[in-house]
Amino acid sequence: MNYYLRTMDAIIKQIEVYSNEINSFFAADAEALEQFRIKFLGVKGIVKAIMGEMKNVPVEHKKSFGQTLNAFKVLAEEKYEAEKQKIESTNIASGFSLDISLPGMPTPSGSRHPVTLMRNRIVEIFERLSFTVAEGPEIEDDWHNFTALNLDENHPARDMQDTFYLSTDPAILLRTHTSNVQIREMEKKQLPIRIICPGRVYRNETISARSHCFFHQVEGLYIDENVSFADLKQTLYFFVKEMFGEDVKVRFRPSYFPFTEPSAEMDISCMLCKGDGCAVCKRTGWLEILGCGMVHPNVLKNCGIDPEKYTGFAFGMGVERPALLKYGITDIRLFSENDVRFLEQFSGV
Ligand code: PHE
Repeated sequence: MNYYLRTMDAIIKQIEVYSNEINSFFAADAEALEQFRIKFLGVKGIVKAIMGEMKNVPVEHKKSFGQTLNAFKVLAEEKYEAEKQKIESTNIASGFSLDISLPGMPTPSGSRHPVTLMRNRIVEIFERLSFTVAEGPEIEDDWHNFTALNLDENHPARDMQDTFYLSTDPAILLRTHTSNVQIREMEKKQLPIRIICPGRVYRNETISARSHCFFHQVEGLYIDENVSFADLKQTLYFFVKEMFGEDVKVRFRPSYFPFTEPSAEMDISCMLCKGDGCAVCKRTGWLEILGCGMVHPNVLKNCGIDPEKYTGFAFGMGVERPALLKYGITDIRLFSENDVRFLEQFSGV
């Protein structure tokens, strides 16, 4: 064995000894760790010194010797990092680098969407009148969205609601109103019925600042013996006062819906100009809020309810419109753009 090989052998034995020392090393404190670093990893440390031997090693042994050296270096480095981490975390645990008098990290709590806020307000008011929430599918069949509501196939009023049909099956559509839920509830025939139906609806309309191809509605239905138009008016009066305040005036205009007879549209006096006329109310002083009426006997019959015994009223309103008014929003598209800068403004509302 020549000189270099003898030296190499000795070095490898020495590396084993040092490796044992490293493996069993435990840094009691930062000072001990620093000593470890200087001894093994410092500029004049053992790792550097042994690495310096590489140049003396015969070519054919360089590879395996190099691997041994490298493993030794990694061992020392990893031990150092591990012990350093331990010391740092004990420091934190014992308060050295943690000032517990600092304020905590704020957790962003998020906020409700303005449409949700408005829907909840509407629902809450009707819940106080013992209405309960009912929900139904957004993908609906023709019967529940139209036919059962007294709009048979060729009814011209179907054009009032530009509908998204499934191209593969036109009997399936995206509901154009939440009246489908009313039909589904009536079909259960558990009377009396006093429900409120919030949900998303779809209409094939051109998207602009004032209209979108989907929006939200809350519809209501009350069916019992002796329900009259007076009940409808009183219920909606109560709603308006709770929602928009005592000063707001209400008017009913005769209207037409295939599923109600008589039908009306309800307006409230414009809260922005107090009825004087402004851009929002198109100079009329009134804002159209909802459609309503007494449930058509054909609708009751379609659901197996005896129209001689039972009567009822229904109403339906959009959620976006009052939300625009309440929060002073000028473009309906903002509701669905998911811009956090917009949505954040409603936290704490
Ligand atoms: N379903 C009607 C619409 O979407 C609203 C409405 C509901 C009108 C109930 C009268 C009675 O336009």
